[in-house]
Amino acid sequence: MSGAVVEKSAGESSRVPGEARVELEAGRRRTFAVISHPDAGKSTLTEALALYAEVIDEAGAVHGKAGRRGVTSDWMEMERKRGISITSAVLQFAYHDCVINLLDTPGHGDFSEDTYRVLAAVDAAVMLLDAAKGLEPQTLKLFDVCRTRGIPVLTFVNKWDRPGREALELLDEVEQTIGLRPMPVTWPVGVAGELRGLVEVATGEFRRYSRTAGGATRATVELVPSEVIAAEEPQYWATAQDELALLEEIGAGFDEKDFLAGQATPVLFGAALNGVGVARLLDALVELAPAPEARDDADGKPRPLDAPTSGLVFKVQAGMDRAHRDRMAFVRICSGRFERGMVLTHAGTGRPFATKYAQAVFGQQRTTVEEAFPGDIVGLVNAGALRPGDTLYAESPVHFPAIPSFAPEHFAVVRGADAGSFKQFRRGIEQLDSEGVIQVLTSDLRGDQAPVLAAVGPLQFEVVTARLESEFRAPVTLEHLGYSVTRRTDAAGAALLAGQSEVEVLTRRADHAMLAVFSNKWRLETIRRKFEGIMLEALPAGSTAH
Ligand code: G4P
Repeated sequence: MSGAVVEKSAGESSRVPGEARVELEAGRRRTFAVISHPDAGKSTLTEALALYAEVIDEAGAVHGKAGRRGVTSDWMEMERKRGISITSAVLQFAYHDCVINLLDTPGHGDFSEDTYRVLAAVDAAVMLLDAAKGLEPQTLKLFDVCRTRGIPVLTFVNKWDRPGREALELLDEVEQTIGLRPMPVTWPVGVAGELRGLVEVATGEFRRYSRTAGGATRATVELVPSEVIAAEEPQYWATAQDELALLEEIGAGFDEKDFLAGQATPVLFGAALNGVGVARLLDALVELAPAPEARDDADGKPRPLDAPTSGLVFKVQAGMDRAHRDRMAFVRICSGRFERGMVLTHAGTGRPFATKYAQAVFGQQRTTVEEAFPGDIVGLVNAGALRPGDTLYAESPVHFPAIPSFAPEHFAVVRGADAGSFKQFRRGIEQLDSEGVIQVLTSDLRGDQAPVLAAVGPLQFEVVTARLESEFRAPVTLEHLGYSVTRRTDAAGAALLAGQSEVEVLTRRADHAMLAVFSNKWRLETIRRKFEGIMLEALPAGSTAH
């Protein structure tokens, strides 16, 4: 992410007065995330987007994970020199007249809670599909989150350079499986694995891409007259024309209203590795993806873009800079102009929060952010008091809705392995809890020395164990508990459940919610029948944690 971009954009519009300037700047922002199943090509696409936006000249690391690891140091060096960070949480760059904020989402499903938080901070998502695999489980899960949050989704069908499924079949799958009507923006000429180029659906223009070795540099694009390609590739061209005619017949043209309402998705084809269709995706983001809009507060009242500054904390991360051991809160600016040094109010506590240390570029290098606008992400350092879901505001109060929390499905008692490091253990648990790395549950019966960690995915335990040991010098042992189902209950419910087998009531530290955890859903049903009317509320992906 580059602070320089923000400064440059500010310079251009700095003569426009106050509120109009905020609207102008917000209108130039496109803030989005890529959602995909692991291996669909998210990292490759992220690098390619930076390459095609000309933030970097060479994507030296796009040969896959093994290759990437091998060139890590060069890559980091390049990131550092250019003031961007591909491997970091947010990538910001200028593209034409726009400022693009690309937020990273964790690749693994076990960190779906983190992904959920990131999706609370974007205005659009790119659903990345592998041409050979179509919709995969993690893609579906993430798409569901987008649907719940009303986030418009663009679809990019990747890896068209190698054998895969038919384009029409993939579109059909999208429509049948998730009920999203596909609206192709580009259309491939040639089957997957034998891609000859892409047709622009609206104009019929055909573009040919020259291959680049492993996508390291930008592919050259050539506009080829249709009679030329028709003569060169009669069969592929004729098939593409038939398919386009069919699409027109069924009315697959672009409809902005349906896109913004989450009922239809613009679809683009390409191959991130070879740079095919990547610049077109950037153009589509600029043309089609929505700019930031007024965000609803907890009462459903929109906070206008030109209202005083406000922001939503969507992620808190410690140890980003090993040398400093500090903790950074990532804030999505929702309204107004953010200026470094301004004092904001923490909506939860009413306490002032100084923003002297506002930074961009996460990972290796950081640059100071002097100002930011709706859609931008600001990193606030030493944000000990901030948690994901918190609101910050200037002047007129606002409270954005809390970010929902998932129902945990894995539980383990955590204990300090070393009696002498209890203080560090406690501090570590507190820290990881407030970052939202894992949910921490307690009960009088278990006491402070042995809290229960509750995770959505088991990998979260590994992160906690590793971080407690390396950052807090508090080695721990875990005792896995045989619970898998969580329901929210109340004091009356807790009283009824006391002493029952295969169920326990614990309090979540973050929000004091009382959670009843059951061994399995059959046990839950038995209990429900036994105590008619007991409060046992489901905590699906959309439940509120606060
Ligand atoms: P991820 O972040 O979504 O997990 O995916 P990543 O970018 O790491 O890409 C996963 C693999 O897919 C990588 O291969 C990458 O080179 C390849 N890939 C990405 N985009 C394209 C594309 O447009 N065309 C082709 N042909 N491949 C692409 P890998 O890890 O080196 O090896 P392997 O998994 O293919 O064995």
